[in-house]
Amino acid sequence: MILRPGLEGVPVAHSSICDIDGDQGLLTYRGYPIADLTSHSSFLETTYLLIWGELPSPQQLKEFEAEVQMHRRMSFRVRDMMKCFPATGHPMDALQASAASLGLFYSRRAIDDPQYVFDAVVRLIAKIPTMVAAFQLIRKGQDPIQPRDDLAYSANFLYMLTEREPDPLAARILDRCLILHAEHSLNASTFSARVTASTLTDPYAVVASAVGTLAGPLHGGANEDVLAMLEEIGSPEKSGAYLDNAISKKQKIMGFGHREYRVKDPRASLLQELAEELFARFGKDEMYDVAKALEKEAAKRLSSKGIYPNVDFYSGLVYRKLGIARDLFTPIFAISRVAGWLAHWKEQLGANRIFRPSQIYTGMQSRKWIPSDERKLAIDI
Ligand code: COA
Repeated sequence: MILRPGLEGVPVAHSSICDIDGDQGLLTYRGYPIADLTSHSSFLETTYLLIWGELPSPQQLKEFEAEVQMHRRMSFRVRDMMKCFPATGHPMDALQASAASLGLFYSRRAIDDPQYVFDAVVRLIAKIPTMVAAFQLIRKGQDPIQPRDDLAYSANFLYMLTEREPDPLAARILDRCLILHAEHSLNASTFSARVTASTLTDPYAVVASAVGTLAGPLHGGANEDVLAMLEEIGSPEKSGAYLDNAISKKQKIMGFGHREYRVKDPRASLLQELAEELFARFGKDEMYDVAKALEKEAAKRLSSKGIYPNVDFYSGLVYRKLGIARDLFTPIFAISRVAGWLAHWKEQLGANRIFRPSQIYTGMQSRKWIPSDERKLAIDI
């Protein structure tokens, strides 16, 4: 048996959802290039494409949008549960708990029924942004704001966060960010979703397990750390020295590197364009020059290893310009990635076999039982 740590290079599913060419820096959803989707589609249309495999007709899209709009509200019970969460808790933990709680409210588990699948998709896509926005207000001691039916998906999310109707450019840019983050094949959280799905549990448990996996700093959590790093560097001329020091200490540079890409992540390039659009309209973030200098200096030191900016490198600068709190960056990633997780949930159920990998046992064998009064303290725990 050959062990491949991190399952690197080991296929675990056939999938027709998303394709990555890591040498060329290409990403497609259901065959459509990510740049086309980001330019022409909306997050809800892309969600439909990811989950059902084809772009919707105008009528199908209208119906899907109307269903999502109708299910944006949260039960007061979920709201009251969230009020009991500690205000100092991380919003990803609040989101994981809230998403899991939906299983209590929609406990029917008819995963073979297309209507059940449709309803579960609608509920999760509709309610996750409401939960993220609600926790943001609740932790500040305020009541959550009800969604507004006249606002589209991303505009409504920004409204629920701030109680102000967002600028249309800001709302469109957030929508494009959601498209960019919606799917990325078998990353850790999507794998987690598929493992959970393979037990035939409900989709709320699938999404909750994926949210927990996304929260880690090696996955979605990196975008928070990028801004902290840029601030620590402070000015463009210090970026080379920062890199030399970090590399000599074998520290990872946050927002750089990817298991799949050997070139700049195409999403990083698109997010950089979105950042520039926002800066042109609302003024530049002073950390942008530091980010660009860091990218240039990192290319000199890390490109031989195929390490370039990933999706998390520029997203924080975009979200900060949209006025979003730093610890909400990863929950926003989750709002978007729920589309990919649900697409994989559905695909997994279409050809399911429970995940049950094997291991190479390295422990002891055939040990003799030692009564407690004869045990010596062997290890300090
Ligand atoms: N900064 C500096 N060096 C890096 C690096 C980074 N961000 N990412 C990888 N490397 C180096 C490693 O030190 C290692 O070098 P070595 O072979 O000389 O020991 C080599 O590249 C391979 O790294 P490894 O950790 O095995 O790659 P991976 O495929 O397991 O990890 C990531 C992929 C994303 C987890 C990793 O690049 C990382 O931790 N990046 C920073 C966190 C981040 O931005 N995460 C968001 C991902 S979208």
